[in-house]
Amino acid sequence: MEADINPVIGDTVREATDFVLSRLTQRPSIAIILGSGLGEFAEHLQNQITISASEVPHFPPSRVEGHAGRIVTGNVKDGDVISDFILVFQGRPHYYESGNLEAVLFPTRLALALGISTFLVTNAAGGINRSFQPGDLMLIRDTLNFSFLHAPTGTGTFPHFAPPAVLDSRLRHILVQNAEKIGITLREGVYCWLKGPSYETAAEIEMLARLGADAVGMSTVPELLLAASSGIRTAGLSLISNLATGRGTTTLSHDEVTQTGERVKNTFLKLLSSTLLSLKTPSQA
Ligand code: HPA
Repeated sequence: MEADINPVIGDTVREATDFVLSRLTQRPSIAIILGSGLGEFAEHLQNQITISASEVPHFPPSRVEGHAGRIVTGNVKDGDVISDFILVFQGRPHYYESGNLEAVLFPTRLALALGISTFLVTNAAGGINRSFQPGDLMLIRDTLNFSFLHAPTGTGTFPHFAPPAVLDSRLRHILVQNAEKIGITLREGVYCWLKGPSYETAAEIEMLARLGADAVGMSTVPELLLAASSGIRTAGLSLISNLATGRGTTTLSHDEVTQTGERVKNTFLKLLSSTLLSLKTPSQA
C-alpha cells in the first residue's frame, strides 16, 4: 500500500468524515463548493440536513463575509424528479486566511473521503476578458496558478503529477445544454488564481490578460486540481461579479461582488438545479 504523504492530514480528514457521516443517513455522491454571494443555492435543497462547519473536527473556519461556513446536504427536486444526494459547502476557507494550503483543501479532501463522484466548484471572479459583463457565468476550461502552490495528491510518496483536465466533458455538455435551455449565455475561459487578499492593480490585470487569463479570483484552483487528479468528474463555474481592475470605471469592493451574486442568483440556481437533475444516475431515473 502507498503511504500518505502527510499522515496527519489523513487522520484529521478521517475524523471529520466520521463526524459528518454520523449526521447523515446516506453518503453524498455530489459535492458543491458555493463561492461568495452564491450560498443561497443550499437553502433550496429538499430533505435538508445542516451541519455547522465549526462543529466538524479540524474544519478550518472561514471569516469572509458572504461565506456562511455551513455544510448542507439534500436533494434538488423538480416534480417527481429528484437528484442524487448532494453535499454543499456554503463558503470555503481561502489561502489568505491561514496561509495554509491544506486548510484550503480540507473541504475537498473531506468530500473525496465521503466518496463523491462529482464535484462542482463555484466562485465569484473578476472579468478580464473584454467581452465579459458583470453577471456573466463562465465555465472554467483551464486554470492559471499564480500562487505557484501545489498540493500533494496524497496518492504516493513522490508528489509529482501531471495536472489533470479540470473540466469533465460530460459535465461540460450537461451545463452547456442546460444553459441553452434556460437561455443563459455560458462563457468559457481560463481562471487565474491569485492568493489575495487585495484585488489586483490595473497593470497586473493587463499582464494576466496577455498571459491568457479570462477571469481572476482567490480560490478554486487547488480544490479543482485535487479533485480532478483523484479521478472524479469535476467542473468549475465562475460568476463574473465585477470587471477586474482597470477593465471598468468603478472601484472594486466586496459589496459589489456579493451584490452581483444577489442579482444573478436565480439564473445561477436554475442552471445548477437543472444540471444536478440531468446528472441523475440512470438507475434511479
Ligand atoms: N479579483 C480577484 N478576486 C475576485 C475579484 C477580482 O476582481 N472579484 C471577485 N473575486
